[in-house]
Amino acid sequence: MYKVCSLFAGVGGIDLGFLQTNECEVVYANEFDKYAVTTYEKNFKTKVDCRDIHEVKLEEIPEFDIMVGGFPCTSFSVAGYRKGFEDDRTGDLFFEMERIFKVRKPRVIFLENVKNLVGHDNGNTFRTIIKCLEEAGYKDKIRYNVLNACEYGDVPQNRERIYIVAFREKEDYDNFQMPLPIQLNTTIKKVFNFDGKVDEKYYYTEGKFKGDIYKQLSEEMNDDNTVYQWRRKYVRKNQSNLVPTLTANMGEGGHNVPLIKTKYGIRKLTPIECFYAQGYPQNYVLPDNMSDARLYKQAGNSVVVPVINRIANNIVSALDSTN
Ligand SMILES: C[S@@+](CC[C@H](N)C(=O)[O-])C[C@H]1O[C@@H](n2cnc3c(N)ncnc32)[C@H](O)[C@@H]1O
Repeated sequence: MYKVCSLFAGVGGIDLGFLQTNECEVVYANEFDKYAVTTYEKNFKTKVDCRDIHEVKLEEIPEFDIMVGGFPCTSFSVAGYRKGFEDDRTGDLFFEMERIFKVRKPRVIFLENVKNLVGHDNGNTFRTIIKCLEEAGYKDKIRYNVLNACEYGDVPQNRERIYIVAFREKEDYDNFQMPLPIQLNTTIKKVFNFDGKVDEKYYYTEGKFKGDIYKQLSEEMNDDNTVYQWRRKYVRKNQSNLVPTLTANMGEGGHNVPLIKTKYGIRKLTPIECFYAQGYPQNYVLPDNMSDARLYKQAGNSVVVPVINRIANNIVSALDSTN
């Protein structure tokens, strides 16, 4: 078993992708959002260290082979502030990972982030990250790619993310390749409940919302193979059979959850459907008594599990061949 150290674990999307290889175990997970931790602990055996990562001492982290983390991306994403490392709120969190990997030198480091990480600050942010990895002993042993979930994960979501994999050993690096594209066979019809009824609160009906939202939605949402969004004044139609990139702020005022036209009417995706749109399996469970806003945020903050799993499988095979 390869031992995984998971930082910024959220609800465990990256952890799950590695666990699904059946050759990894999560020996340490850190996440300071107590609601995300509740969801995480409902699904995994690992007890999460829920302190701020800045407070965690190196010697408190058990031995591990693989370090994984989708460090917070608010400072890099186009939707965020675009301040990168200067963002005093979250900008230094990559350096918290560095603090650990430069001393512990794990065999593999796996990082996930928004696509915009590469172009941020004319490439300076990304160069800094690569330089930190190189100086820690991973020079010339780093592979990275931007992969879209609908092309690499057989998940009908348009979600482009950068995946960075760094190896300590040259042989592991040589044995590893990023996954190749695969056919998208999974349709939104397979992922969402078009034929059944969900809780009343998710439906748009006449008079339920201010103005003529319902009228506009019912006029324009004419295709049940398409996911729509309400954008303040107009209805946005997405590409057929593709969910737009789920975001952490959906479910908050003004940032609406994607909509579908079902047998029982026009409605929002439910929180669990947003997890399914990230490729989470049917046996993943959400806590009762947690607000939808929190659950939507957790789903939007997470990752596309099958893409992670395909990369994790390749990592594990690379390490196995070296061994
Ligand atoms: C982009 S999300 C990662 C989500 C995760 N990959 C998943 O699949 O759910 C970043 C996470 O970092 C956590 N975080 C932010 N700052 C932190 C800190 N100082 N210490 C610990 N966790 C932190 C946030 O609460 C958030 O859940």
